[in-house]
Amino acid sequence: MADGRFYLTTPIYYVNADPHIGHAYTTIMADILARHHRQLGEEVFFLTGTDEHGGKIATSAEREGRTPREHADILSARFRDLGGLLDATYDFFIRTTDLEHEAEVARIFQGLHDSGDVYKGSYGGWYCSASEAFYAEGDLLEGRLCPVHKTPVEWVEEENWFFRLSAYRDRLLEHYDADPGWVQPQARYNEARRMIEQGLDDLSVSRAQVEWGVPVPWDPEQTIYVWIDALLNYRTALGYARPGEDLVERFWPPDLQLMAKDILKFHAVIWPAMLMAAGLELPRRLMIHGYVLKGGEKMSKTTGNVVDPFPFIESYGIDALRYYLAREVRFGEDGTFTAEGFEGRYSQELANELGNLLNRVVSMIGRYRGGVVPPDGGADGEIAGEVSAATASLTTAFERLDVSRGIEDVWRLVQRLNRLVEQRAPWTLAKDPARAGELDQTLHTLAEGLRAVAILLWPVIPGSAESILAALGQDPAAVAIADAAWGAGRPGATVAPSGQLFPRVEEEAA
Ligand code: ME8
Ligand code: MG
Repeated sequence: MADGRFYLTTPIYYVNADPHIGHAYTTIMADILARHHRQLGEEVFFLTGTDEHGGKIATSAEREGRTPREHADILSARFRDLGGLLDATYDFFIRTTDLEHEAEVARIFQGLHDSGDVYKGSYGGWYCSASEAFYAEGDLLEGRLCPVHKTPVEWVEEENWFFRLSAYRDRLLEHYDADPGWVQPQARYNEARRMIEQGLDDLSVSRAQVEWGVPVPWDPEQTIYVWIDALLNYRTALGYARPGEDLVERFWPPDLQLMAKDILKFHAVIWPAMLMAAGLELPRRLMIHGYVLKGGEKMSKTTGNVVDPFPFIESYGIDALRYYLAREVRFGEDGTFTAEGFEGRYSQELANELGNLLNRVVSMIGRYRGGVVPPDGGADGEIAGEVSAATASLTTAFERLDVSRGIEDVWRLVQRLNRLVEQRAPWTLAKDPARAGELDQTLHTLAEGLRAVAILLWPVIPGSAESILAALGQDPAAVAIADAAWGAGRPGATVAPSGQLFPRVEEEAA
């Protein structure tokens, strides 16, 4: 980021079942940050995709009567479609079944073998196929259940290839000590550091029983463990995302990697050790967000406790979902999705406070000033100051990854503008020709304040922000943070009334 470039990733999602609000959440948060960094003028590379190999995918394909390939094609397309519906501006959608990815995984894995970090051994342990991971007896829940999925684990014994994870303990701890901010939030940093401190077992990194995967190059009877294959996507994508261009030089290492806490250990312990072994630079920062809950439980494909994002998007528009999740679920903490909470924020905040404000401002400028935004008389310095304060606090909050806070700061400005309408009562000013100057200033301030609000909220509600700018007669593409400065817009713009921004929704989405 110091170099003006920003490389950002989401996890690659398993294609064992349809996407739900939990996946939408990570992708939306990543997109908000990607857009914000573009607003700051940085060159952003935003990666997402699907994780398609392994026993879990093969089993779910079989259940559907499909080959793993057919199944992966169908489900991967749904994740990609969801990305489009979310308005996620990812730069590349990786699939671990891409031939270029597979070849590079084999090459890197061969390198780990050549350097002595991968050796042959035998292993028996409790395996959860939903996690694609072994668990120690002590980590299991009562009744030998997986601690994440609460489903039965099975005893698996194999002769496998192992990664010398234990050898990286000290180097990992050094890295943690040297860079206390590298895992966010602090509680997750502490948790990951504790895992390392308590000692690490070597990791089984190949499977004899799983056919659906990348073959171990020197032992094709085995496939590479799906998590090794999956983690490497963050690296391999840069090699072929843009044909004819090698993005590794430009973007490695990732500036920010997002995920929920279910996959903390893979990303905060195993991933950096693999990179050390491969001689590659580590990501600069991991952000471990919380779970979106439904009825007090994590939404999960495996347990079926999910909310389908599609009907909400269809009824309310994607910006409503983006806004609700980003504001309701404080980044880094768990939060609960409820249809009532969603509808409440939609009608109170988006429709009343923002949508109606825009309507009133545009129609008053139409009625009292023939649609032309009056010039600035310079009498509202206080509001101008609040705009610049909101811009600064949003930028700081986003840098600290406190996205919900950033939105709250801008929302105070929205509320301030609503109060201004009530206090100044332009409809009264309009009756008194002696107060024409006051009316001009008020209309200017409202339009200018809304223009800034639209730019600041653009990462969160991009389509609506662009509509606001268009309705104000402004360039909908002028959404850089610098454009939010007071007076940076087009002077003397003509407003262009359009439809209601967040219309009343009658039907129930849930
Ligand atoms: O773990 N709340 O894939 P996955 C918040 N393929 N985020 C949630 C969520 C919830 N209820 N449910 C899912 C995998 N997520 C691996 C990753 S990466 C190299 C391989 C989001 O389909 C969140 O980002 O189980 C979580 O970490 C991820 O989806 C898990 O997706
Ligand atoms: Mg999962």
